[in-house]
Amino acid sequence: MRRSQILTLVGLGTLAGGIAAAIAVLLPWLPDPASREAGRIDFVFWFVTIICIVIFAIVAAALLYAVMRFRAAPDDDSDGPPTHGHTGLEIVWTIIPTLLVTAIGVISAVVLARNDHVGKNPLRVNVTAQQFVWSFQYAGNKNMQTGMLRVPMGRSLLLTFTAKDVIHSFWVPEWGQKQDTVPGIHPTLHITPDRLGRFPVICTELCGLGHAVMRTYAIVMTPKAFDTWLHGQSAATTSPSTGTSGKAVFDNNQCGACHTLAAAGASGKVGPDLDKLPQWAQDAKQPLESFTQTSIVDPSAYVQKGYPDNVMPHTYKSLPKDQLDALVQYLIQSSKKG
Ligand code: CUA
Repeated sequence: MRRSQILTLVGLGTLAGGIAAAIAVLLPWLPDPASREAGRIDFVFWFVTIICIVIFAIVAAALLYAVMRFRAAPDDDSDGPPTHGHTGLEIVWTIIPTLLVTAIGVISAVVLARNDHVGKNPLRVNVTAQQFVWSFQYAGNKNMQTGMLRVPMGRSLLLTFTAKDVIHSFWVPEWGQKQDTVPGIHPTLHITPDRLGRFPVICTELCGLGHAVMRTYAIVMTPKAFDTWLHGQSAATTSPSTGTSGKAVFDNNQCGACHTLAAAGASGKVGPDLDKLPQWAQDAKQPLESFTQTSIVDPSAYVQKGYPDNVMPHTYKSLPKDQLDALVQYLIQSSKKG
């Protein structure tokens, strides 16, 4: 091979590799990691991507060079000369991919093992998925249920999943980890949040009509702020003297994901508009209060025209009585105002 040919090959390789690298680096493919696990997953991603870009550059350079250099004349129909392979070349292009694939396998195994290593004192949170809400229960605070996931920064978080109806999938893009929730089994997921902020919790498994709105937030707080919040929450749910706020029940159960209610700033479109509650009750010829309560605990009792049955979960009959009463009163008052 002459020097000019090598220069051409290197030039073509640099061009192809440069274009591929620019596409990989300049477009924001990945969110900024907000957990140690996501940082490791990103490392594996870039390790594999860089190998791919280098190999792509070499193959593209050889291909483009062959197209340019060995192009047949327009009227040349003759066969090319017979070739017999090149043992040295074949050994090289077998050994290099073997080493690369082995390296990817080893690094992936290390990252998987480290990402699953929970440590001694994780914060345990039970995550319940149902059409179309996420809810979170903190270990040791049985009565406490929230609609947003609040966690302290820097501490291992061990989520245990329960699916009440169909398969859902828990995903916080900035945390990297993802887990399907499957009825009948209780998979776990380990995350160590390492950046403060509010991140979206997304359902990434098509689970029905309200799949697209099955979202909430994960809020990463400083350990001190988290402790203050946790104590405040467990005090509020265990002390009867503070009363139960209907708006809190509405928010914690994510009613606004599917329903519109002006007073709560909710604009869900999956279920009936709750600002029109008095009218719905009138249409059903029922007293407003009993109509509202029945519709929460037994959603199939009155199905509004234009809305399918069996979209609203049948699980709210398990709401504690004080929460149910507070929610009913809140809905009645809010809808009369609206
Ligand atoms: Cu739950 Cu999609």
